[in-house]
Amino acid sequence: MQCTGAAKSGVSTWTITRRGPDDCESLFPAFTMTTPLAGKSTTDEIRSRFDSDVERFSSLKTGQMATIDAPLAMTLISEAAVSCTKKIRRVLDVGCGAGNNTLRLRQTAGHDFDVDLLDLSGPMLARAADRVRKVNSGSIHTVQEDFRSADLPESNYDVIVAAAVLHHLRDDSDWSHAFHKLHRLLAPGGSVWITDLVSHEQPAIQEMMWDRYGQYLTSIGGADYRDKVFAYIDREDSPRPVTYQLNLLRSVGFETVDLLHKNSCFAAFGAVKHR
Ligand SMILES: C[S@@+](CC[C@H](N)C(=O)[O-])C[C@H]1O[C@@H](n2cnc3c(N)ncnc32)[C@H](O)[C@@H]1O
Repeated sequence: MQCTGAAKSGVSTWTITRRGPDDCESLFPAFTMTTPLAGKSTTDEIRSRFDSDVERFSSLKTGQMATIDAPLAMTLISEAAVSCTKKIRRVLDVGCGAGNNTLRLRQTAGHDFDVDLLDLSGPMLARAADRVRKVNSGSIHTVQEDFRSADLPESNYDVIVAAAVLHHLRDDSDWSHAFHKLHRLLAPGGSVWITDLVSHEQPAIQEMMWDRYGQYLTSIGGADYRDKVFAYIDREDSPRPVTYQLNLLRSVGFETVDLLHKNSCFAAFGAVKHR
């Protein structure tokens, strides 16, 4: 099967030719990216890129600069987690990076909790544990593994946060497996909160939002910065629409699902597991 499409973005006009069932399985990430799923960065390549990028993820004030509304999204998921949970005792931070989201959750909760920090990158985990230890006297456990294969306790966590990480999931079965796992790992009444880069169902809307994101990147770092960010997204990321992810949350068993925020290609949302 072959799918083709062409689109103008803030950077250039691309013609996309996609071959094979895997590439065409979902049209969601099309039209602004040229690299087919099978050609995206491997897990080892992702780990090695983040190993050398710790500093960029270590500011609680700004979050990640390339993310629109990063501080707001972080605040919203923390407040949502606290609002939906009687007492947060155990937390899992998936793709924790340098620990920003756990730190913000600790600030918002106003009390200590036990936390499992999970990431592919050893240097990220070391930085995260170091920062979290300074403000939280609950137990801190680091897990250097791929979330998809990590052996984690089921029905255990009151809160799971997954910030800027799920866009590394690839085909439909990868997404479904990961969302089922999020549901299984939560304790009854627990909740998962996600912030991420998202794509759009309508190619025209995807193109429109990509242009807006390009304008944002240009405004903070110029056209070269925009092109650099777009190039690594193309190589490394395979985001899905927030609508797809909200539906998937429901389909794996979450009864209540909420969208907290969406601006251009970024969204914050989450779901609560039945008691
Ligand atoms: C963009 S950073 C975000 C870090 C942090 N959550 C934040 O918001 O500041 C993504 C992180 O996810 C990690 N990561 C990517 N894919 C992963 C996977 N499959 N399992 C675990 N961690 C992963 C990377 O190593 C990286 O540290």
